[in-house]
Amino acid sequence: MIFVLTGAGLSAESGLGTFRDEGGLWTQYDLSEVATPEGFAADPEKVLAFYNARRANADSATPNAAHTALARLSQQTQTALVTQNVDSLLEAAGARDVIHMHGQLDWALCAGCGARWDAPAVMQVSDPCPACAAKATRPDVVWFGEMPYHMDRIENALSAADLFVAIGTSGTVYPAAGFVEMARAYGIETLELNLEPSGGRFDDGLYGPATDIVPDWVDRVLTA
Ligand code: APR
Repeated sequence: MIFVLTGAGLSAESGLGTFRDEGGLWTQYDLSEVATPEGFAADPEKVLAFYNARRANADSATPNAAHTALARLSQQTQTALVTQNVDSLLEAAGARDVIHMHGQLDWALCAGCGARWDAPAVMQVSDPCPACAAKATRPDVVWFGEMPYHMDRIENALSAADLFVAIGTSGTVYPAAGFVEMARAYGIETLELNLEPSGGRFDDGLYGPATDIVPDWVDRVLTA
């Protein structure tokens, strides 16, 4: 079974940008103001506006060749497709059962009762929760200081994998950044597909734009 961890570099060529590259989101915004529970409590309108803009970008983006290749891989081999990304471009490319450990822009969450529903294009602080009517609507996105989703399922899949592949991630945010070391501890082969080496301890690496290196790698895996 192949365990694939993806990051913002997978969707960069779909126009969604990344966080830490030049011009990335965290070079334009103070993440403590828009991606933490404290930031949301201090100024919910600013946070919802930030995610409304990201949702609009994601909704107008289309899957690139790397998304399509990973969808093909997941359809033809036993693959755990884990993403840090909150866009749904892998699903749009036909991937099934994508594990979104940082949540998704497509979902709204009630900070009061925990109910989830399809996110409106423009989320407003005054939106009442459809379940409890509280005005505590937030994006269903995991913020810094919050526990990522599906960690038990992720750790079970990692322990059962034969190959760990990290695609388009800088390996700077835990717990995702620790998965390569967990894989090494399990004796699993590790491979990085990225624009440039992230500095993580991988057995092997393929470097270049995801739309070049991911389809080539998937073709090799599927014809091996
Ligand atoms: N093809 C392949 N890799 C690319 C491309 C590309 N076209 N463009 C950029 N990259 C690589 C960069 O070299 C970098 O290693 O993608 C990585 C992007 O790193 P980050 O911007 O740090 O994004 P990511 O690793 O996904 O961030 C992890 O941090 O802010 C949080 O929750 C957020 O999920 C995010 C997490």
